[in-house]
Amino acid sequence: MTARPKGVKRQGRPAARAGRRRGSVAVYPGSFDPITNGHLDIIERGLSVFDEVIIAILLNVEKRPLFTVEERAALIRETYGGHPRVRVDTFSGLLVDYAEKVGASVIVRGLRAISDFEYEFQMALMNRRLNPRIETVFMMPAEGFSYVSSKLVKEVVHLGGPVTGLVPPVVERRLREKNGAARPAPRRARR
Ligand SMILES: Nc1ncnc2c1ncn2[C@@H]1O[C@H](COP(=O)(O)OP(=O)(O)OP(=O)(O)O)[C@@H](O)[C@H]1O
Ligand SMILES: [Mg+2]
Repeated sequence: MTARPKGVKRQGRPAARAGRRRGSVAVYPGSFDPITNGHLDIIERGLSVFDEVIIAILLNVEKRPLFTVEERAALIRETYGGHPRVRVDTFSGLLVDYAEKVGASVIVRGLRAISDFEYEFQMALMNRRLNPRIETVFMMPAEGFSYVSSKLVKEVVHLGGPVTGLVPPVVERRLREKNGAARPAPRRARR
């Protein structure tokens, strides 16, 4: 590294770089059914602080998802294709065990509103009890995404409304295809 002459400012994004620990890996867990621009906002914020973000899709047997795990992973990969610091993975079981296994010391979660807080607070404290070496970090999205959820986006598309700007274009296309396929064939007009 060469010394910087006095008075010459550092290039790039010093604030973000200064806070980043070398080799820091964060896990961003969720259902991502499907990924929304709110999720992307949190991933971008995670990347500005940590070296690698692993988007970890929870294999949740209780929820009945619209997209299979493979479809959800493919949609994320299409959005983040080949990004050197983003990895897509799936997990089941305890999140802290998964984090430990992949060498992550941080869990990233997004906080939209007070409604998210209570559940997230409980989870963070339980995870800390299960493994105190892993820290949960909460990030807030841009205000414009604070009302966006996968569930709401699915509802709007199901009812025929637009979700442009709330999800990546490929997700909007796939949502429309799914809904088209799920919808009953239109009845023939009576003569
Ligand atoms: N718009 C958003 N802004 C910030 N964080 C978000 C947003 N949407 C989801 N998150 C966060 O991302 C993480 C994973 O969320 P999840 O996959 O359950 O998405 P979701 O939109 O809440 O889905 P669902 O509607 O199915 O509950 C959680 O920490 C959640 O709070
Ligand atoms: Mg949710």
